[in-house]
Amino acid sequence: MVTIFNNKEEITPYAADIFVAAAQKAIQERGIFVIALTGGSSPVAMYKLLATPHYSTKIDWNNVFVFWGDERWVPLDDDRSNAKMSCHHLLNHVAIPKANIFPMYKTGITSQDYALEYEQSIKSIVREDGKFDLILLGMGDDGHTASLFPAQVVLQENSKWVSAYYLESQNMDRITLTASTINKAREIVVITYGENKSNALNEVLYGDYNPQKYPMQLIKPLDGKLLFLTDQAAIGTNQ
Ligand code: 6PG
Repeated sequence: MVTIFNNKEEITPYAADIFVAAAQKAIQERGIFVIALTGGSSPVAMYKLLATPHYSTKIDWNNVFVFWGDERWVPLDDDRSNAKMSCHHLLNHVAIPKANIFPMYKTGITSQDYALEYEQSIKSIVREDGKFDLILLGMGDDGHTASLFPAQVVLQENSKWVSAYYLESQNMDRITLTASTINKAREIVVITYGENKSNALNEVLYGDYNPQKYPMQLIKPLDGKLLFLTDQAAIGTNQ
């Protein structure tokens, strides 16, 4: 489902409300809320809003478990770190136990080995059914999501839950949930807006199926919900 807003500012409270509702429902039904956060710039306004008391007090953070959808393989104090961004805008401002936060980076281990460890960490919380309650995603101008970049081998990965690889175009390792893991989620919310996303978004939503070129097309929940939150600028005249 695609929900189109007049502008990005309108997306922010709507997305924050979805986060709160998903957390409350999961905690009520299963006792815990397991989320994968997204990096990039698109979620920043929502993270900031969730950090305000009006929103943060509606969530029982003791029962929230935070993972990430992907990460640039850089130290946690590096400005490119998705964990750093998420902590700065959200997690540092709410009463979540440190033990409930699983950054997708660790020193003294290769990204490949950490991918295996991260899979075990996820399993220790979500158990074998592998269902995150909510996975937040963004989308790059090229149609990538998480660190599922066009034409990369990781797009075909079906057995690993987490994969790490060297992304030549950015000269860095990336670590990411695989599409098959993302697709098990109960709810997936993609926040993407602005004119720069227009071409990729229209190809993803209305173009031919070509996930090697537009990896976002791989995101099709098995039995969960998928929602795109976008704006007029990104969707253009195609609606
Ligand atoms: C990352 C991401 C990535 C991001 C998109 C969109 O670490 O790069 O997680 O998948 O969501 O590149 O980024 P923007 O929100 O900045 O457009």
